[in-house]
Amino acid sequence: GKKPLRVAITGASGQIGYQLCFRIASGEMLGKDQPVILQCLELPQALNALKGVSMELDDCAFPLLKGIVQTDDPNKAFEGADYALLVGARPRSKGMERGDLLKANAEIFSVQGKALNNHANRDTLRVLVVGNPANTNALIAARNAPNIDPKRFSAMTRLDHNRGLAQLAEKLKCSVTDIEKFAIWGNHSATQYPDVTQTVVKGKSAKTLINDEKWIKENFIPTVQQRGAAIIAARGLSSAASAASAAIDHMRDWTFGTNGQWTSMAVYSDGSYGADKGLYFSFPVIVDKNGKYEIVQNIKLDQFSQERFDVTRKELLSEKDGVASLLPN
Ligand code: NAI
Repeated sequence: GKKPLRVAITGASGQIGYQLCFRIASGEMLGKDQPVILQCLELPQALNALKGVSMELDDCAFPLLKGIVQTDDPNKAFEGADYALLVGARPRSKGMERGDLLKANAEIFSVQGKALNNHANRDTLRVLVVGNPANTNALIAARNAPNIDPKRFSAMTRLDHNRGLAQLAEKLKCSVTDIEKFAIWGNHSATQYPDVTQTVVKGKSAKTLINDEKWIKENFIPTVQQRGAAIIAARGLSSAASAASAAIDHMRDWTFGTNGQWTSMAVYSDGSYGADKGLYFSFPVIVDKNGKYEIVQNIKLDQFSQERFDVTRKELLSEKDGVASLLPN
């Protein structure tokens, strides 16, 4: 059989981690013929909870699961890692300023970036940052890993992408698989721009089919942007199963390809569309069957799209400024 792949998961006993571990071990991310070793990182105070997760993983008797590492040491968690899902992050506590939150996370992600640099399987590594502020955390991790190609780091906007697909499918009474060329631009935050201007449904322009500019601007876009808050209001807890599902989709597509279809990933900006080089910025991407992604080029941004794009771009620049002192040269 195939050699096991090492999948590191941080925050493995948290809400999202608790979903991810089981879905990855069952083969939903890397395929039903690919053995895996889960390398779980948690804070010292959560190691006991992690032990419980590990016991439950044992009890699933997953044929593909060839080992479980439980540790609070990033150097161990990332040893030989082929995949890293960076989920654990410092949540905003009461009275915490945005700047403090950025800095607390910057410290976590600089340590993890260095540990990845020194211990991960650099040549095949794929890193997905889920923990918020995800785009800026990805920037920090990547900048602290000078020996790893920055294209091997990414941040998650796939949940936003999937939320948009679901809203469009409901509006147009079609299947999510009928929808092509939808994308999220920019930051995983309320400034993200869910863009339907290029979107095609069964060969027809989604904009023409919707035929309601007001619905797009005043209903669709804010619904996608603020879906996270709506889930918290309804569930009393933040999105977890849907976030884990999106993380699986992101890594699976980044590995096996998107069959010529667009998806959304926050990736290292090469300056495309004027997104400042080096930012982790969500673009429409296509992944080929060898797992290589390309940012979709030559999309014409109309004036409205350009304005939305600039808002989210500026937010990412200001987040970057907020952690500038923690970025190595
Ligand atoms: P949670 O609080 O249930 O779990 C987080 C886990 O991470 C906890 O078990 C905690 O002990 C651990 N942790 C914290 N710092 C750590 C560190 N330095 N190293 C290792 N483990 C650490 O949170 P949940 O719901 O699982 O969410 C995790 C993160 O994902 C949050 O930052 C959340 O905002 C973010 N998120 C991002 C989404 C996206 O679309 N990009 C969607 C949903 C959540």
